[in-house]
Amino acid sequence: MRLTTQAFGIEFQNPVLLAAGTCGFGLELIDVLDIEALGGFVTKSITLEPRSGNPAPRVTEFDSGMMNSVGLANPGMVGARNEKLPWIAANVRRARVLVSVAGHTVDEYFQLIEGLDPSDGFAGFEINLSCPNDARRDGIPFALDPDAVTEIMSGCRARTERPISAKLAPNDPSLGMTVRRAEEAGADAITLVNTLPGLLLDADSGEPRLGQGAGGVSGPALRPAGIRAVREARASTALPLLGVGGVFAPEDAVAYGRAGASLVQMGTATFAAPRAATDLISGLERWGRRHGVEAWDDLRERTGEEAG
Ligand SMILES: Cc1cc2nc3c(=O)[nH]c(=O)nc-3n(C[C@H](O)[C@H](O)[C@H](O)COP(=O)(O)O)c2cc1C
Repeated sequence: MRLTTQAFGIEFQNPVLLAAGTCGFGLELIDVLDIEALGGFVTKSITLEPRSGNPAPRVTEFDSGMMNSVGLANPGMVGARNEKLPWIAANVRRARVLVSVAGHTVDEYFQLIEGLDPSDGFAGFEINLSCPNDARRDGIPFALDPDAVTEIMSGCRARTERPISAKLAPNDPSLGMTVRRAEEAGADAITLVNTLPGLLLDADSGEPRLGQGAGGVSGPALRPAGIRAVREARASTALPLLGVGGVFAPEDAVAYGRAGASLVQMGTATFAAPRAATDLISGLERWGRRHGVEAWDDLRERTGEEAG
């Protein structure tokens, strides 16, 4: 199966990206994975100030996935600009990099775009509007406030000519409307989905299994929510969609493609198997050969015809 694809004006050598927060800034992975073989990766979300993150434990497993409450631990805008982005500019050639940004306030998003846009080496921004672990916002992401979505996306649009993708939440009862608001405000793409808010309690003590209390669910348990969100978004917009949530096997990526995703992102799968993303790329080629599908892009076109 031919895997090269174009989305929001960028050529990707294949549709497989690593998801925000699961691959640091790329250099953390060079000993375990050939990042240049990937379609690309999304950086850890960068906040204005450095953050050390939430109390441990920050990650816990359960039978169908994982929960995390990392709390956006990152070196902050200046640290990322001085220490992380120069490495990407010097070392990443073929993989396409999206820089993820997350603000506590609307204005922080604008400062982040203004501060990071002059740097080299990345293709676009992913605007994280949907982090469920931001204690300062009490777990209520901007993605669930349509006016905030409009304000943040239009302000980011005015501050960069690079493509911008809005990363939205899986627990949005009006997802189609949120997608349209993001598009009207100037988004070039939509990333779906971030983690789903959840809570695991220890049966003996009744204490939360994560230091912060609640957290975000990822992995196989999130897959149906992600695929549904992509399909729902596809009905509301013609923008490219980036599907994320429980992508482990080639069939999972294909399902996202059939739902309407141009690209997929992988997160939790890489914690169990660091090379899961490169395995997925070769698995997709094999899947295409077995099923007589010539190109990744054909999956989406077929969905369009089916949808009538
Ligand atoms: C440990 C961890 C940290 C994450 N950090 C971020 C982040 O900084 N920004 C963001 O937009 N999403 C973050 N996410 C969410 C992922 O990018 C992705 O949306 C989610 O995990 C679903 O994909 P998956 O099931 O393949 O892991 C994080 C997820 C995990 C598991």
